Amino acid sequence: MENLTEQELATLNAVRFPQIPLYEGFGAPVRLESDLRDCEVSYGEVPKDLNGALYRCGPDRQYPPLIGDDIFIDGEGLVVMFRFENGHVDFKTRYVRTERFLLQEKHRRGLFGRYRNRYTHDPIAKGCNPGTANTNVVWHAGKLLALKEDDLPIEIHPYTLETIRRYDYDGGIKSVWLSAHPHLDQTTNELLTFAYQAKGDGTTDMAYYVIGPDGKVKHEVWFNAPWPGMLHDFAICDKYVIFPFFPLLTDVEVLKKGGPFYQWHRDKETMVAVVPRYGTADQIRWFRGPTSFAGHMMNGSSNGSKVSVDICLSRGNSFAFFPNHDGAPPDPTQGAPYLTRLTLDLAGQTEEIKSERLYDWLCEMPRTDDRYQGNGTYRNGYVVCHDPRRVWAGMSGFSSVGHYDLKTGAANSWSPGPNSGVQEPCFAPRKPNSPEGDGYILALVNRMAENRSDLVILDAKNLEAGPVAMVKLPVRVRTTFHGMWVSQEALDSGHYSVSRTP
Ligand SMILES: [Fe+2]
Repeated sequence: MENLTEQELATLNAVRFPQIPLYEGFGAPVRLESDLRDCEVSYGEVPKDLNGALYRCGPDRQYPPLIGDDIFIDGEGLVVMFRFENGHVDFKTRYVRTERFLLQEKHRRGLFGRYRNRYTHDPIAKGCNPGTANTNVVWHAGKLLALKEDDLPIEIHPYTLETIRRYDYDGGIKSVWLSAHPHLDQTTNELLTFAYQAKGDGTTDMAYYVIGPDGKVKHEVWFNAPWPGMLHDFAICDKYVIFPFFPLLTDVEVLKKGGPFYQWHRDKETMVAVVPRYGTADQIRWFRGPTSFAGHMMNGSSNGSKVSVDICLSRGNSFAFFPNHDGAPPDPTQGAPYLTRLTLDLAGQTEEIKSERLYDWLCEMPRTDDRYQGNGTYRNGYVVCHDPRRVWAGMSGFSSVGHYDLKTGAANSWSPGPNSGVQEPCFAPRKPNSPEGDGYILALVNRMAENRSDLVILDAKNLEAGPVAMVKLPVRVRTTFHGMWVSQEALDSGHYSVSRTP
């Protein structure tokens, strides 16, 4: 093999994906970049007051993995855009041209091994940045950024989706990468973000940043996590930011042996750091509680001395594609997430985390009316969920989009029916200054039997009324993780003009 030329090697490595469930059916890589002007509208009418773009991002393998043991969160970032203009919807997808993408394109094969394990990459990939930009897209300070938590943001063009550059905020970011879950405060036009393992694999360094409306770093705090582990998401409120640490840990010695980037330690506790939004490391307060896990946060809030965060919390590891440290099989019951409020009392004498389950529907991918991120109070939350009133045979993934009214405790949902699933809902306000929750929910719908996708537009106040409109795609959009609605006004100005209505 070592005598073969690169060209001969490429011929031997025909593009053929492993025959495993990950790459079959709806999960099969699409590997296409699309341009479709004027999508079909199969039901209803697209509201003419909805002008702007819905951006989404997810993994779509460019080449078969170097090793067979792959997990679904790996793969090259494909950015998806639905452009809304006066009742018309245009659809576009583009791969993010990361260093990894370009190197693999050149060599016509996969060069990166196990997820985030640099010890398993092909020697050709040595020194190449392994980031995939496959997790989230955010519009801030006139830049559209594709994000993955083990790389810096990648700037892409908001209309062509062309890759522009790897972006370190003009040298303002000193951590080696940034989270894929920044939170935008649309009233201050600040982007609050962070990095975990901020000095490299297995380090405990945490970096928290506030990026100002001008796109410059205006505040940063460095502190140490209790362990080198995953911190996928955090929550913000008006005075504080909240970092929950769950025991999904990285061990560099395991990486050197070719092992997984994270292992679940079910014997360890949960710790939460409450950091003043504009404060310093010595003002951080720590709280602790029993073993738990959450991938995603809905929102934070503060009331007097009490700080709370609403999160999709499970008792065990809900990212079960990362194994248990002790070799035990995954436990789906322990890993089932429910919307839960954690409350931390800054005036209390203990480090206790108070935990209260808010809803009994299994749910994930929590979102809000984005204008109310970081607000003192908010009322509406949106999730993908299993509404027990709806049983759909033959479906995989989440069956419903759910709306939680946190003021009344009411919950309602919409489901696309049999053999269909839903992806993370994004909220679009009816008008820039509409009251909280007055607007639309936009969600990709997986049509399993037809092997293609729809985009549903729902009335955010009345999901159960059914779609306002259904945009029909002739192609499949593989699972996208996260994204956001950006109004035309925000695209034009580079800023959000939001005032909140109680
Ligand atoms: Fe995420």
